[in-house]
Amino acid sequence: MHFLHNFPCMSPIRDMRVTSTMHPLKIMWSLLVALVLLTLSQSEVGVDGSLKVLGLFPHPGISHFHFFHPIMEGLAEAGHEVSVVSHFPNKNPVARYKDFPLSGVDKLTNSVDLKFFEKRPFYGHFIEFFLLHEWGKQACNSTLRSDALHQVMKRRPGYYDVIIVEQFNTDCMMGVAHQLQAPVIALSSCVMMPWHYERMGAPLIPSHVPALFMAQSQNMDFGGRLANWFSTHALNWMYKLLSVPTADALVQYKFGHDVPSVGELAKNTSLFFVNQHYSLSGPKPLPPNVIELGGIHIQKSKPLPADLQRILDSAEEGVILISWGSMIRANSLSDAKRDGIVRAVARLKQQVIWKWENETLPNKPANMHIMNWLPQRDILCHPNVKVFMSHGGLMGSSEAAYCGVPVVATPMYGDQFVNTAAMVQRGMGIILHFEDIGENTVMRSLKRALEKKYYEAAKAVSHAYNHRPQQALQTALWWVEHVAHTNGAPLLKSSAVEMSRFVYYSLDVYAFLLAVIAIIIGSWVWLIRRICGSKAAKKTKQD
Ligand SMILES: *[C@@H]1O[C@H](CO)[C@@H](O)[C@H](O)[C@H]1NC(C)=O
Ligand SMILES: *[C@@H]1O[C@H](CO)[C@@H](O)[C@H](O)[C@H]1NC(C)=O
Ligand SMILES: *[C@@H]1O[C@H](CO)[C@@H](O)[C@H](O)[C@H]1NC(C)=O
Repeated sequence: MHFLHNFPCMSPIRDMRVTSTMHPLKIMWSLLVALVLLTLSQSEVGVDGSLKVLGLFPHPGISHFHFFHPIMEGLAEAGHEVSVVSHFPNKNPVARYKDFPLSGVDKLTNSVDLKFFEKRPFYGHFIEFFLLHEWGKQACNSTLRSDALHQVMKRRPGYYDVIIVEQFNTDCMMGVAHQLQAPVIALSSCVMMPWHYERMGAPLIPSHVPALFMAQSQNMDFGGRLANWFSTHALNWMYKLLSVPTADALVQYKFGHDVPSVGELAKNTSLFFVNQHYSLSGPKPLPPNVIELGGIHIQKSKPLPADLQRILDSAEEGVILISWGSMIRANSLSDAKRDGIVRAVARLKQQVIWKWENETLPNKPANMHIMNWLPQRDILCHPNVKVFMSHGGLMGSSEAAYCGVPVVATPMYGDQFVNTAAMVQRGMGIILHFEDIGENTVMRSLKRALEKKYYEAAKAVSHAYNHRPQQALQTALWWVEHVAHTNGAPLLKSSAVEMSRFVYYSLDVYAFLLAVIAIIIGSWVWLIRRICGSKAAKKTKQD
């Protein structure tokens, strides 16, 4: 129960229990004092220093929850009382972890049909924004009406010590946190979105911080920076003008019209946990209230199933793993693309394991092994795995960074483009566009990824990814306890949060200086004109 160390005022109460030789009256007196102390401190911490933590996760994407779950479970294991509103209740009960399951919205597992991505237009990220907006609206609406939320909201305001919410495509849950009057910690399972920077007082710098939806790394040419500048600001404004009012309408319908706008409430976010790490996603200027926890979902290794272990151990030429994540059904690939991959694999010496959701695969070569489900992280860390063919999702990319495996990525939507660009920039990744998939392109990409320089770059990223001053989960626990004990860590909140961006970027100062320079130059020009003008006038008079 290490968190007690952070809380010296609780130690007298603990000491009391061990001293058994005290006078009865003295004991009664101490008990009374203890009782008063406990009542006073109840709103802050529980009897034994444990916190009451509420998690609100209305988005039905399982890959997102893979980032939240280890944090919530870690808090329960550290002795805190955890309540979780989500679409993904625990299969096995965890002590002090109480689920409040949401239902009604389709869970986004194995649900994306690849035909949708045959060709992504250049403005694809704006279409995706509207899709996200629509998902956010539905998740907000159904969560606000859910019985799960009704249950957790029976508690009096101030009951919870910390509320942990996903900040993704809607700030709907900020309205709930406002009702419950508790400090808020935000989680983002992908790199920060354009609308996440301002609320934390972080700079939005499109010159080298690519917008989440863009297929760019921190190295951009002028055209890339122009597009990134435009997209970053446009998406930020679209969020403010579209998603915030939508969430406001639903929140105010539920809680009444005196609830402030969720756009304002979002500025009250105490801390932001983000699933990124500089070694993979690139260094960014982040204030101390934004904490990088990339890789927190990566668990201790588990033994592999016997058949997989045998394939991996006996592969003398190495193994290539193909997996397009939990959301994309591989058997919706067109026949031509599927055959292209199969023919390329037949020409390789390596063994190939493919996550393929069907019993059969036409023309399956002998070195190909299809499986419905894979323990991806344990396979990737096997020393014989040489290349990972993926869709560039952040979970898989983090696992590749952790295990040090080069990646051939085929991004399809969302943050997969930006993750892929980052891996390419780091020298550990190759991009293979979805529309280009065919026998020769797959062959060429895999052959390149097997080169030594990709291996070495992947190992360098892996070293930085794994060597941190503190494990990601320990960092998360420390900060959650800190936010609870300081009632929202007000010292972490920068004045920048309340500034207009015009002032934040010193544009007012630039404007002032420009005006001063303009006045100086203008008056000189005026003076010179006057003098020359009068001289010329004199001259004409003399003539
Ligand atoms: C919210 O859900 C209710 C019931 O399912 C539905 O009638 C209503 O139109 C929804 N509101 C929005 C804004 O989608
Ligand atoms: C498996 O593939 C066969 C042939 O390609 C197809 O007819 C069948 O519907 C697929 N099964 C599933 C469960 O997708
Ligand atoms: C802002 O957060 C603090 C705790 O950090 C909370 O007490 C306060 O009520 C919040 N303000 C609003 C407007 O929700």
